[in-house]
Amino acid sequence: MTEPFLALGAMFFGTKLDDAASFALLDAYVEAGGTWIDTADCYAFWVAPAGHGGQSEQVLGRWLAARPGVRDRVRLSTKVGAEPVKPGDFSVQQGLSDAVVRAGLEGSLRRLGTDRVELFWAHVEDLRTPVEETAAAFADVVDAGKAAGWGVSNHPAWKVERMRFANAISGRPGPVALQHRFSYLTPRPDHSVEGAANRFGLATPETLDYCAEHGLGLWAYTTLLTGSYERADRPFTEAYRHPGTDARLAVLDAVAAEVDSTRSQVVLAWLVAHGIRPILGGSTVAHLHAALAGVRLVLSDDQLARLDAAG
Ligand SMILES: NC(=O)c1ccc[n+]([C@@H]2O[C@H](COP(=O)([O-])OP(=O)(O)OC[C@H]3O[C@@H](n4cnc5c(N)ncnc54)[C@H](OP(=O)(O)O)[C@@H]3O)[C@@H](O)[C@H]2O)c1
Repeated sequence: MTEPFLALGAMFFGTKLDDAASFALLDAYVEAGGTWIDTADCYAFWVAPAGHGGQSEQVLGRWLAARPGVRDRVRLSTKVGAEPVKPGDFSVQQGLSDAVVRAGLEGSLRRLGTDRVELFWAHVEDLRTPVEETAAAFADVVDAGKAAGWGVSNHPAWKVERMRFANAISGRPGPVALQHRFSYLTPRPDHSVEGAANRFGLATPETLDYCAEHGLGLWAYTTLLTGSYERADRPFTEAYRHPGTDARLAVLDAVAAEVDSTRSQVVLAWLVAHGIRPILGGSTVAHLHAALAGVRLVLSDDQLARLDAAG
């Protein structure tokens, strides 16, 4: 079976989703040929009664222990930097100093019950730490064999470039991927969809250009806008109320009818056609199967051109 171009998001494993629901998603994903599982050390502190993260990685650790041999079939992607210093408090995060990056990875490996991850991400900007220190710390964990590669999430492209360049001139490994919020619809530029603490969460044309220029992978989160493309109980937020949304939805509906699929499935197919790896945030196996059908959907050149041009 060909590997689906889709990572499984594990953000609410161990908090909103219990072990049974999480294991069901993980088993179904692996059975469908999936390999990449995305988590973070801070998942999901904002819904955990204790106000700190780690529950998601712990569920993954229990699942790996319960499924002998599966560790070699999956690739683990985890992140450091956004765990709160004070329980439940978004305003001060641990950041990306050398000490936090090293200790953060050790904690993740312990919870996951493994000796390495395949991808280790800088989760959010840290305005207190020089980016060169962060870049060197990530290179160190790659050189130590504890992470196969490293990536950067939610940073402006100019800052990623400073990290990449700092490592390049010293012959050290640079980032291999970026992770941002991205979907078919675009919010109004005057509306933050991520909040002040995450100013650069949204991928922009500059992000895409930067990835293409340096051969970096782009991973996209919140691609389905938490279900708003279909669900009456999840209306699009105020940020999406503009004429461009109407134009894009009209073409999305037309293409969805042509390929007998849902809007969300066409959004996923469109992302994949542009080389962008979606991270699924579904909570049921039905969500997963719908997403797998979406990433495996092949749109024609004409359909892609119409989707690209709309709005
Ligand atoms: N780097 C970062 O800063 C960052 C930030 C956010 C997320 N992420 C990663 O991205 C992953 C996904 O993020 P997300 O949860 O924001 O993404 P999302 O895919 O936009 O939203 C997922 C939610 O949409 C609903 N949904 C999904 N498929 C559906 C379907 N077929 N029909 C109806 N509803 C459906 C489900 O809601 P219900 O479960 O409520 O039914 C699901 O929980 C996370 O697990 C995490 O790994 C990374």
